Amino acid sequence: NGSVRVNMSNVDSPLQIFVRAKKKINDIFIEIDDYVKDAVTFMHAVSGEKGIATPQDVANVEAYVSKVQAIREVLKRDHMKVAFFGRTSNGKSTVINAMLHDKILPSGIGHTTNCFLQVEGSDTDEAFLKTDGSEEKLNVQSVSQLGHALCDSRLQERALVHVYWPRELCALLRDDVVLVDSPGVDVTPNLDEWIDQYCLDADVFVLVANAESTLMVTEKNFFHKVSTKISQPNIFILNNRWDASASEPEYLEQVRTQHANRCVDFLSRELRVCSPKEAEERIFFISAKEALLTRMREREKPVSSPILAEGHQVRYFEFVDFERKFEECISQSAVRTKFAQHSRRGKNIAADVQAALEQVYNSASDRKASMVEKQRILHEQLTAIEEQLTTITRQMKDKINRMVESVEHKVSLTLSQ
Ligand code: GTP
Ligand code: MG
Repeated sequence: NGSVRVNMSNVDSPLQIFVRAKKKINDIFIEIDDYVKDAVTFMHAVSGEKGIATPQDVANVEAYVSKVQAIREVLKRDHMKVAFFGRTSNGKSTVINAMLHDKILPSGIGHTTNCFLQVEGSDTDEAFLKTDGSEEKLNVQSVSQLGHALCDSRLQERALVHVYWPRELCALLRDDVVLVDSPGVDVTPNLDEWIDQYCLDADVFVLVANAESTLMVTEKNFFHKVSTKISQPNIFILNNRWDASASEPEYLEQVRTQHANRCVDFLSRELRVCSPKEAEERIFFISAKEALLTRMREREKPVSSPILAEGHQVRYFEFVDFERKFEECISQSAVRTKFAQHSRRGKNIAADVQAALEQVYNSASDRKASMVEKQRILHEQLTAIEEQLTTITRQMKDKINRMVESVEHKVSLTLSQ
């Protein structure tokens, strides 16, 4: 069974870097949560009648409980996001379907995808859809209606449809990758709006280009805009429809070199998002259609188109190679951008709570010290009084003695007369 194969193959996937880091940072925040709650209990114990912590001290520490809670919520939902762009019909939706091992998104000739479609893992084993801003779970058959330009009930192009697909059916989804499909960059003037809405939190961008033609100005412009808003975006370029090269084998190498040079040039010299050497690792020649077919066959799903063109295995290996490099890139980038920030905040919270506890401790020990000081002064005063008393007593004794002596003297004098 194909789905079992998919499930088992991910133990050594580079995506595990993210998955493990996410687990670790979630565990750390559970500890921070405990620590903050303990601090609150302590503050309560020393406030009120005891008067060591002020109501303000208590409120300060209590405020961290909800802050930590909010971060834990965000952390639970953190994922790796990849967004696909390119001209209409270059094969964006087909690439995503191939990566998901199933025909999930609508694809076809002409202008097909008419709004943003975000595929993510569903925690239940059912597949369903939601449009942005609505909680209603829609039937998955409606992907093709909502997302297809040829359907009447379709949405606006900048609308977002969430497609929830059972995690167990796809390794990428299980490991928290979210894939965003878009309408062709050539069908809209609203590229800025798109970027602001859907790109700012993407970890990786995939430009799906058409190897039958070449990189187009609209595609280039889109990524120029992206790179003005995001510093050093991670961009992969897929030269899709490379199966077309099978019909012109005599020029295959030359065409490949031409495409590769232009793509390297675009990433390294035009966009300046990486070095030429790094750019070479970001460019692939694939056939999404063949990759999807191969995978549907592996899973024994009924497929039509029977024959694959010459060289399809090589193209399929290149597709798998792309997936591997993509997984490495996206998990490292997401760990860096998402978790670095959370761990900084976690550290700050722990330090702040510690400072609050120390402050209460210090004011308590100040009070102790001042009581001790008071006691010391009292003690000194008492000692002085004691001394005075002793002196006075001694003087009195002397005086009495002298008086007694003089009386005795006088008595004896009187008697002797
Ligand atoms: P829009 O949603 O309209 O922007 O297009 P898209 O970029 O999503 O393209 P889509 O995946 O719908 O593919 C368009 C057509 O090209 C479909 O008929 C696909 O079957 C076909 N196609 C996609 N990839 C390949 C490929 O690698 N080789 C060939 N020969 N055809 C492909
Ligand atoms: Mg599409």
